[in-house]
Amino acid sequence: MQTDSSFTFVLFGGTGDLSMRKILPALFEAHRAGGMLADSGKIVAVARHVADRAAYIDWVNEHVKPHVSKNGVDETAWASFLERIEFVKIDLGNPEDFTLLRDALSSRPGIRVFYLATGPSLFVPICRALASVGLNENSRIVLEKPLGYDLKSSNAINDAVGEIFAEEQIYRIDHYLGKEPVQNLLALRFGNVLFEPLWRREWVESIQITIAEELGVEARGDFYDNTGALRDMVQNHLLQLLSIVAMEPPHSMDSDSVRDEKLRVLRALKPIDPRDIGKVAVRGQYHAGVIRGNAVPAYATEPGVKQDSTTETFVAVKVEIENWRWAGVPFFLRTGKRLADRVAEIVVNFRAVPHSALGASALRGGANRLVIRLQPNETIRLYCLAKQPGEGMNLASVHLDLAFDRFFREGQMEAYQRLLLDVINGRLALFVRRDEQEAAWRWVEPILNEWAASNKPPKPYASGTWGPAAASAMLAQHGTCWLEEEN
Ligand code: BG6
Repeated sequence: MQTDSSFTFVLFGGTGDLSMRKILPALFEAHRAGGMLADSGKIVAVARHVADRAAYIDWVNEHVKPHVSKNGVDETAWASFLERIEFVKIDLGNPEDFTLLRDALSSRPGIRVFYLATGPSLFVPICRALASVGLNENSRIVLEKPLGYDLKSSNAINDAVGEIFAEEQIYRIDHYLGKEPVQNLLALRFGNVLFEPLWRREWVESIQITIAEELGVEARGDFYDNTGALRDMVQNHLLQLLSIVAMEPPHSMDSDSVRDEKLRVLRALKPIDPRDIGKVAVRGQYHAGVIRGNAVPAYATEPGVKQDSTTETFVAVKVEIENWRWAGVPFFLRTGKRLADRVAEIVVNFRAVPHSALGASALRGGANRLVIRLQPNETIRLYCLAKQPGEGMNLASVHLDLAFDRFFREGQMEAYQRLLLDVINGRLALFVRRDEQEAAWRWVEPILNEWAASNKPPKPYASGTWGPAAASAMLAQHGTCWLEEEN
């Protein structure tokens, strides 16, 4: 991961929530680790409401420091990290201000990274202003999600940005792709002979992918109420995870080999017939409830949310992939806020043995199951049947556990840290290509349209539960259930 190449990391939205919680802490971790960032590399924060560099450093000390290094801040590293930071005061609404940025960057060596940690409405104006002062050369641009609201608006942004930056300069972030366990999924599938032969319709009965959160919408009510879980989580994170689970082995790990294979999966998603949406997609909205002993309010009473909002905070959807490997295998995707637990996992349920000489207990599906837990506590667990000790041949479920923190005590890297280093070093594999994004929008749009047109509100669920009962009923129709419903 060592780099000698200098860089300038320009952070638009330098005082925003994302900069405070994720981006600056991730850059600090890379700095603290040593050897990951070129010594001459600088961070140039751009903001409007801060007077000068000294005031910005005060802001970083006050707001960013609490988010770095859970085990206490290394003060020497922190002080040298602050030396990397420069500041340019720019009003993004005023393109002439960009000459200040051009002047600040004119003598800097190496690649320029422009990170747009701003609302999507500013993406195009910022790109145009950068081009107007010649800053689109020798540079990379990082776009945060949400990139648009639907296929049309996402295309409009991509078209406009694409006129200024070439596709290989554009880094569309999906932070789930930077998570260590997602990388591990690639290692598990393509670094071992054990799983790949079984990773297909002949042996797999169904797959579940869940991203469950305990948090509600927090301070983002305004944004979220115009977005909803389908746009916020399914169109991007869940479909990206699905494409990694289902993709064919790539020729190599270079960016286009991986992204070509993911794209093939996204293009093979069976289009949803609008008449079937009630059967294959469930939307819910959280009501008041209790999470870990604390009472939490209903979504409709959260700040920034309309009282009669019909925005979904929960989605469960059945996806099918139309290719030889996966035809007929249901993939159940689910995400929601204010659920019973914070957990992200992928569950591969294998088929039952075709004939059991050992009695009926060996004939149930799900006896062999691989559970890949992405967070918290990254583990991979393989369930098998074994003989219960004692007389007779009675089978019981046992599991093999792979807990990564026991094998690798050091070197874990947060998603943003990995992704930012990838941008600085020009590695595109973990970023979403435009065609992938379009394919994902194309697949979710019928659901978005149907829900927007429908006069049925989302199904209510109490905070602290696993969402509406309809999500369980959907799986029951396929003779299966969500992992937590197994007894
Ligand atoms: C973001 C969504 O992309 O991912 C948030 O906008 C969500 O609504 C978050 O809370 C979840 O990410 P993580 O890494 O905490 O699981």
